[in-house]
Amino acid sequence: MARRRMVYEGKAKILYEGPEPGTLIQYFKDDATAFNAQKHDVIDGKGVLNNRISEHIMTALTGIGVPNHFIRRINMREQLIRAVEIIPIEIVVRNVAAGSLSKRLGIEEGTPLPRPIIEFYYKDDKLGDPMVTEEHIIAFNWASQQDIDDMIALALRVNDFLSGLFTGVGIRLVDFKIEAGRIWDGDYSRIIVADEISPDSCRLWDVKTGEKLDKDVFRRDLGSLTDAYTEVARRLGILPENKGNANGPKLVH
Ligand code: TMP
Repeated sequence: MARRRMVYEGKAKILYEGPEPGTLIQYFKDDATAFNAQKHDVIDGKGVLNNRISEHIMTALTGIGVPNHFIRRINMREQLIRAVEIIPIEIVVRNVAAGSLSKRLGIEEGTPLPRPIIEFYYKDDKLGDPMVTEEHIIAFNWASQQDIDDMIALALRVNDFLSGLFTGVGIRLVDFKIEAGRIWDGDYSRIIVADEISPDSCRLWDVKTGEKLDKDVFRRDLGSLTDAYTEVARRLGILPENKGNANGPKLVH
């Protein structure tokens, strides 16, 4: 059998050519990185958990009409996605002060924000993903004003949905990052949610105890990342069993 073609390798995922034009296979690695890959580790099972959690969230987003790249899960570590032109902007939505916002503005972590705050970061590892404004995005042609409006609308809909989803399982959605991609339909393009939505890209705190259930566990050396992500999967009702079973995880309800 011919070896399939790798299209892109990132820090936590690999993209392979998909079975049909306009599709890709997204493979979730066990690698965890932080601080622009200055901190790196391989965490057994992280990729399996993120594949399953991202599938769960993207499928639910499709169900409420939020367009995204997810087509279907293929196996424990891989999912079929629509190929998109990634907009080189990370969109962060914050509900509660934490992380770089707390550091930059001196607001204590855990302080609720008066309204969701959206920030943009330019995706460039060499520059350490600097924060940028809409002015930069338009001036440097990374996206148009219409694209930005679409990205903001998508991000706020994802925020509303995810906040409710996580509140329902006793988790506070502090903040998260999404990426957006462009798909073409003839001469017209649309912006859809791409990449992944998982505990790698969200801050998730237990409502009662404040315990962190996201990548900050790794960034800040707070304990077992696998335990934290497994807990998120368990609460969402999607705990994968039978690790290593190529047929994929069994649903647990
Ligand atoms: P920050 O507080 O470090 O700016 O992070 C804001 C949110 O974005 C948080 O949920 C983690 C997520 N994030 C990523 O997904 N990738 C990144 O490279 C960074 C820095 C943050």
